[in-house]
Amino acid sequence: MRKKIVAGNWKMNGTLEEGQKLTSEIVNMVKDEVKGEVIIVLNPPYVHLQSVKKLIGDAGNIFLGAQNCSDKSAGAYTGEVSASMLASIGASYVIIGHSERREYFKEANEELTGKVKQALGNRLLPIFCCGEPLEIREKGNHVEYVTQQLTESLFGFSEGEMKKIVIAYEPIWAIGTGKTASSEQAQEMHAAIRKHLAGKFGKALASEISILYGGSCKPDNAEEIFSKPDVDGGLIGGASLKSRDFVDIIKSF
Ligand code: PGA
Repeated sequence: MRKKIVAGNWKMNGTLEEGQKLTSEIVNMVKDEVKGEVIIVLNPPYVHLQSVKKLIGDAGNIFLGAQNCSDKSAGAYTGEVSASMLASIGASYVIIGHSERREYFKEANEELTGKVKQALGNRLLPIFCCGEPLEIREKGNHVEYVTQQLTESLFGFSEGEMKKIVIAYEPIWAIGTGKTASSEQAQEMHAAIRKHLAGKFGKALASEISILYGGSCKPDNAEEIFSKPDVDGGLIGGASLKSRDFVDIIKSF
């Protein structure tokens, strides 16, 4: 059985107080309303990680994640945060290769391999993002583009390592735009990703990997998207900043 995961990516939003309020609301609502086995991951900005962790406490189904980590283990890299630091404060997951990092911070596929390596070496579970820009989608080359991202960043890992990686498919044209991929478009790509992983790592392993959808996922479209057989959850941006919306998305499973 694949893990069902809903992860909230807060991006660069919220003061400490706002982050604490949001976390408390989510923790309480989840306790009262969420049954079943969905894994929930909160990915606040680095500076809020420890206080969010405290508020999550021992809520067994809510985990802490970071939005990025360094591809280096330690040293003179001003401003960077290592995977071992994240693990030491209780993070369980880390988002790697978000399209905003690829675009604004020029993170390339090879560097992302280093980040995934650091995460795995420090017992963090990477949420590895992939996704195509609009012009690639319009040319019909989206499957090729995304599978190449996966090949270049992840195909050097062993089966044991690959098993721990969560994939998030996030079409760039759908992120923060209010334009969601249709559930058919999501399913097409998720199935193609799984097939691609199966080609390298075997069918059994590919069927165990959770593939999340991200891009304008909201309470009113989550149920339809999550109903597709190869969609195992979501990476939620904007809607994860509103406790009611985020928990309603979790409940769409
Ligand atoms: P969005 O962002 O839900 O605001 O579109 C998703 C993401 O970037 O992870």
